[in-house]
Amino acid sequence: MAIIDGKLISLQIQDEIALEVNAIKEKGGKVPHLAAVIVGNDGASETYVGAKVKACDKIGFKSTLVKLEENTTEQELLHIVEGLNKDADIDGYIVQLPLPKHINEQKIVEAIDPKKDVDGFHPQNVGRMALNLPAYLPATPYGIMQLLERYKIDTAGKNCVVIGRSHIVGSPMSILMARNTVPGNCTVTMCHSRTKNLKEFTLNADIVIVALGKPEFVTADMLKDGVVVIDVGITRVPSDQTKSGFKLLGDVKYDEVAAKASYITPVPGGVGPMTIASLLMNTLKASKKEIYL
Ligand code: GUN
Repeated sequence: MAIIDGKLISLQIQDEIALEVNAIKEKGGKVPHLAAVIVGNDGASETYVGAKVKACDKIGFKSTLVKLEENTTEQELLHIVEGLNKDADIDGYIVQLPLPKHINEQKIVEAIDPKKDVDGFHPQNVGRMALNLPAYLPATPYGIMQLLERYKIDTAGKNCVVIGRSHIVGSPMSILMARNTVPGNCTVTMCHSRTKNLKEFTLNADIVIVALGKPEFVTADMLKDGVVVIDVGITRVPSDQTKSGFKLLGDVKYDEVAAKASYITPVPGGVGPMTIASLLMNTLKASKKEIYL
C-alpha cells in the first residue's frame, strides 16, 4: 500500500510555479495576480481565503483580498465583480462560497468573466471541461487529477466509482475520469444518495473517489483488494485524543481500508492541500492566457 502524499505534491507544485514566476520577473514580464472576494465573517471561509492569499505571497504572485460586509447587497457584489472583470491587472479571481443567503450565488458565478474564473465554476468552463476543451478545472478535481498523474496511477480501462454528485467535486470528477485523457479513460459509475446497493458498485471498482462528507462511510468490506482510494471528505469531529478536542475524519475508514488498498489519500494531508496548488496553477494559466487564447 502506498500513501498518496498530497501535502508533498502540493509543495512541489508550488515550488515549480515559484521558479516560473522568478523567470517571468527576470524577463520583466507581468507577475500573475489573483484576487479573492469574501463576503461576511464565516470563520472557515476566512481561513481558506487567508491560506490562498498566503500561498500567493509565498510563490511570488500578486494578490488582492476584497473583504466585504455581511450585509453587502447582490447589486453591490455584482458591481465589484464587474470591476474585477474590467481590471486589466487582475488575471484571475474567486468569490469565496458560500455567500450570505440574500445573495444569489449562481447569478454571481455567471457574472464572473469565464476568462478570469480560476475556480472553474462558470457554466462556460464546466461546459468546456465536459467537451474536453481547454478550461479552468475546479480546484479539488484538478488536484485529484494531478495526484493520479504524478503518482503514475494507471487509470485507462479501469472501473471508477465516484460517490457524491456535488457540482464542485463529484460531478466534475466523474466527467474528468471518463474523458479520453491521461489520467482518464475510465468506465465511470456515479453513485449518490439514491443509489441502490452501493456495495455492488464499489466491490467492482478499481478506483473509488468519495466526496460525501460522511465520516468513515466507506469500509473495507465494500472494496476489493488493490483498490485505489481517493478520500475527499474532511469532517471535524469531537475527540478526547487531541489537545484541541477535535480531529479530522475522511469519508473512508482509513486503517482498515488502507490495509486493502494499493494507493490511498490520507485525511488530512491528501486531497485537501492540493486545492491551493490547483488555484495557483489556474492563476498561472490565466496570466499566460493558456486557456482562452
Ligand atoms: N468554498 C469551498 N470551496 C471553495 C472553492 O474552491 N472556491 C470558492 N470560491 N469557494 C469555495
